[in-house]
Amino acid sequence: MKKAKYILHRREEYQIEPSLHTRIHDLLKRCFSEYPAGRSYYQQVPTFRHLVYDQQRLVGHLAIEYRMINLAGAIVPIFGISDFCVDPDYQSQHIATDLLERVEAEARDRHIDFIILATTEQSFYEKRGYQHSDNPCRWLLLTRQQTLGVAQRRIERGIMVKATGNQPWMEGLLDFLGPMF
Ligand SMILES: CC(C)(COP(=O)(O)OP(=O)(O)OC[C@H]1O[C@@H](n2cnc3c(N)ncnc32)[C@H](O)[C@@H]1OP(=O)(O)O)[C@@H](O)C(=O)NCCC(=O)NCCS
Repeated sequence: MKKAKYILHRREEYQIEPSLHTRIHDLLKRCFSEYPAGRSYYQQVPTFRHLVYDQQRLVGHLAIEYRMINLAGAIVPIFGISDFCVDPDYQSQHIATDLLERVEAEARDRHIDFIILATTEQSFYEKRGYQHSDNPCRWLLLTRQQTLGVAQRRIERGIMVKATGNQPWMEGLLDFLGPMF
């Protein structure tokens, strides 16, 4: 973070205590008004999270799922980003940009080929070097914590990716091998 007063914690999901899940939910609800009640994840639990604190106050959050995907027939490791947000009182202080840069550095260090996310905030990511994927997508459709089936279609300007390894992004079917992020 630019300002030394902000503290960053990286937490493995399975180690997170219930009281922190409640605080994460409260932040997510503040940032995404339609966030599901009582949960700290949208579809499925992530692998780990980055949390930003101003003293005791949780002010930033980013969840990462480590997963293999099938990109046009190639099985590649990726980080999927979800639930990325900064408390409205703390926005425009470079907190989100710094979080993203940390995740990208970790992906490069750990030989993760791509970072992938689904977003409506394209311009934020475009400015940070992410490209649109218009690949046809296949994913496991989960709604209200039930599996409804397998979806397959293009998602117009909804999926964004950044290469963090030596693999170039490829055209062809993007099979998430699980739910969307
Ligand atoms: C998007 C978000 C995470 C950015 O957090 P932040 O800490 O304010 O971002 P930073 O301070 O690092 O970057 C600010 C920059 O992002 C831009 N920005 C902030 N929010 C934006 C948004 N919703 N869409 C597009 N650009 C945005 C600012 O204009 C600024 O632009 P600059 O890089 O040209 O200066 C934050 O606005 C947020 O939590 N929004 C609500 C939840 C959300 O939409 N999350 C993204 C889901 S994928």
